Amino acid sequence: MADQQTLDFAVKPTLTGELVVLRPFIVGSDAEALREMLQDPEAVKLTGSGDGTAAMPDWDAAAEATFLDWYGTRNQQSDRLDLAVVDKASARCVGEVVLNDLDRSNRSCNFRVLLGPCGRNRGLGTESTRLMVGYGFERLGLHRISLEVYAFNPRARRVYDKIGFVAEGMLRDALRWDGEWVDATVMSILAPEWNRHHGRP
Ligand SMILES: CC(C)(COP(=O)(O)OP(=O)(O)OC[C@H]1O[C@@H](n2cnc3c(N)ncnc32)[C@H](O)[C@@H]1OP(=O)(O)O)[C@@H](O)C(=O)NCCC(=O)NCCS
Repeated sequence: MADQQTLDFAVKPTLTGELVVLRPFIVGSDAEALREMLQDPEAVKLTGSGDGTAAMPDWDAAAEATFLDWYGTRNQQSDRLDLAVVDKASARCVGEVVLNDLDRSNRSCNFRVLLGPCGRNRGLGTESTRLMVGYGFERLGLHRISLEVYAFNPRARRVYDKIGFVAEGMLRDALRWDGEWVDATVMSILAPEWNRHHGRP
């Protein structure tokens, strides 16, 4: 198991499942799919991005430059792991999975996943989450992986429950969306739990 000194996210692996391949971003060929994913109103809502309304933010030249810089620098980050989700059926990038907010002392981090419209509801999110979380525990030696999911996102909640994330508590009124307050549930998996069920509790 990795210790505090070796717990390093600088290595960007390729993880292969039955439905997806998780691999480092290739900005040139992934940009179109990533743009589509980020400009999708449902994704903006379900991740609590944007300005808290259904109005989509402008994608102007500045936004495009920020976007290209962001995805062009993910492979150089040593404190977070961002991987593209590639749908094996189309060989196309359909989203991303991320381990971020690394706390080396406590061997913990946050997990997030975002698939564009063409990647959803076919099991890709479940497999991507299982692959990435498994890599975090089995290869990186993490002890705890946590996340937050909004109450208006039962599909994501179902995926996390299925993989063995345990609900820890509720962040009440964590998000204001379209004039309504929305709760978020904090969930986590610990290494001993993962070692027992490997994402199939
Ligand atoms: C959340 C997300 C990663 C899930 O990935 P996915 O590939 O669409 O989901 P899967 O097909 O693997 O699994 C979805 C599961 O939820 C179930 N489901 C779908 N819609 C549901 C709903 N409205 N209520 C409850 N369960 C639902 C499906 O039946 C399936 O469960 P099953 O395997 O037991 O049948 C993906 O939809 C996504 O990126 N959505 C937009 C962004 C987002 O929500 N990110 C997460 C933020 S916390």
